[in-house]
Amino acid sequence: MKNSDINTDTNTNVNRRNFLRSSVAGGAAALSATGIATQLAGCQNQTSNLSFREIPHRLDHHHHIPEGYQAQTLLRWGDALFDETDFIAAELTAKSQALRFGYNNDFIGFMPLASTANDSSNGLQNFESNNSNRGLLCVNHEYTLPHLMFSGYSSEEDAETNTTLEHLAIEQQACGHSVVEIVLVDDQWRVNTNSHYNRRITLSTPMRLSGPAAGHPRLATSSDPSAQTVHGTVGNCAGGKTPWGTVLIAEEGFGSAFMGNINHLSEAEQDNYRRLSIGEGRPWGKYDSRFNIEQEPNEANRFGWMVEFDPYNPQSTPQKLTALGRFEHEGTTLVAKNGQPIVAYTGDDDEFQFIYKFVSSGIYDEHNPSDNRKLLEDGILYAAQLNEDGSGEWLALTHGQPFLTEKFGFHSQADILIECRRAAQMIGATPMDRPEDIETNPVNDCTYVMLTKNKKRNKSDPANIRPNNTAGHILELLHPGKDGNRDHTALKFQWTTFLLGGHPHSGNHNDRGFYGKGPDGKSVTEDGWFATPDNLAFDNTGNMWVATDGCEAFHFHDGLWAMPTSGPYRAIPKHFFGCPLGAEICGPEFTPDGTTLFVSVQHPGDSDNSTFDQPVHRWPDFDDALPPRPSVLAIRRKDGALVGR
Ligand code: FEO
Ligand code: CA
Ligand code: CA
Repeated sequence: MKNSDINTDTNTNVNRRNFLRSSVAGGAAALSATGIATQLAGCQNQTSNLSFREIPHRLDHHHHIPEGYQAQTLLRWGDALFDETDFIAAELTAKSQALRFGYNNDFIGFMPLASTANDSSNGLQNFESNNSNRGLLCVNHEYTLPHLMFSGYSSEEDAETNTTLEHLAIEQQACGHSVVEIVLVDDQWRVNTNSHYNRRITLSTPMRLSGPAAGHPRLATSSDPSAQTVHGTVGNCAGGKTPWGTVLIAEEGFGSAFMGNINHLSEAEQDNYRRLSIGEGRPWGKYDSRFNIEQEPNEANRFGWMVEFDPYNPQSTPQKLTALGRFEHEGTTLVAKNGQPIVAYTGDDDEFQFIYKFVSSGIYDEHNPSDNRKLLEDGILYAAQLNEDGSGEWLALTHGQPFLTEKFGFHSQADILIECRRAAQMIGATPMDRPEDIETNPVNDCTYVMLTKNKKRNKSDPANIRPNNTAGHILELLHPGKDGNRDHTALKFQWTTFLLGGHPHSGNHNDRGFYGKGPDGKSVTEDGWFATPDNLAFDNTGNMWVATDGCEAFHFHDGLWAMPTSGPYRAIPKHFFGCPLGAEICGPEFTPDGTTLFVSVQHPGDSDNSTFDQPVHRWPDFDDALPPRPSVLAIRRKDGALVGR
């Protein structure tokens, strides 16, 4: 049954109070009891403006877009960023990789540059130009896959266990981040390889530690005894942008960079490392002592932070923001209101981990950009507690609070930030089903949390209502403020389940989806349902665009689904983009004018038995000399109008 409408089954088991209260079918009366109706009332007459023709669920070797659109392959792993030299996969060296686009692109931030006619050396003026025809594409490179990057490995396991020194050195230059100037000419984006802005950040780039854990002995190493400077970043998953024109890079799966026995460490450090799976990683430490816990026991405490850097200054030193805590950061997104503290939402992507927010001590002053640069160095970090009645509370992770004391092994604020997972658990934060991206909708000012899945959950709770949650779900958070406005600094909030991933008629409670229901009684189509929400973006009219990581378990490609967050078509997704086999999609990012949508296609061809020598496909080049290559695509309507409309 393709492309046909499915009536949402309102008798589904998902008729818990918290969910129905929020669902479109719940109606205004149910909504008003919670205060959420105040927010939604003004949107009741909105009709969906997502008029693109939905694409089908598929699983093949190609990417897919709706009719009337074009997808340009803009940047591929190995593309030269500083000259025009070709990429010859079999001849790649570490020195060459350091000058080329990295592997497994993830987060994408489009940072505008003023038009060339009006060039400005001031980064903030560039950022505020909102120019959508020229900009810096700031892209994370999350991790490497040697079995798909190099010839000679028989399997993923073979490559991960037997990586050579030469390959390891290339991998370390393929991680991190790329800054690339791009220009729109005749409806096509072009990479400017002569741009002085182009930059690679790798595992060699010096970074300053800032905030309460900077200088702490638990971060000191033989090469940096004062714990001030770290070399590089890894596990760079999603990220964020600041209104002062900087980019935020998350350090997520950094544990896989470290190997070695942790038994020689103190009990506290063993517990810290175990919670982050440190010591069980790749064999980089065989050749590089800083990734070997037995030789450099503190190096792993220097990763797992959020990193901020200025893409408009290629000489700028990135800084690791310890005030935002240390865990497997998916990303961080900000809410900035003039005259108020900055609020940063950040998720810890692992089973039973927590949702966090940081509130700055200083006040955001949009007229004072240089002072704003310090805002993420000092503030209070909170973890979320979600209650059964739909209320929630932000619990401060502040030294001296109950459980966050000497008696419980927290000797200072630095200990709390280094061991966020233990601290948040101690104070009663709610363990979630893998919190990935968290973003605030610029139109309705509600905050949305992607919870990708959690097969390990065997007991439901009000905010994670399915045991063995294979399909994931999305929560909506509302922070009531004065005069019907939001106050993201508030310590109390309301939450509701926005949708549940999965097929709406699945026979299994653990993956039965639940979506909105339109005024015509119709709900999501056979192609509109999805599972495993991971990253998201909002367009200028407040539609949510969700990127998935795990739909292949449901026998179709990962991709993008777009939906309104309010009005009669709330939470009814439409399918916009599909990945080639083996890939997940990350980093959806619009230009400020909404006419280009950039997406990251990560780990294409990473399927069973697929290797460099015998790949399952060779997307996007389909050239016999090239393996599948992670790539950034630029999607535009052929008539240049708004994407999605
Ligand atoms: Fe790197 Fe949580 O996805
Ligand atoms: Ca992600
Ligand atoms: Ca992912």
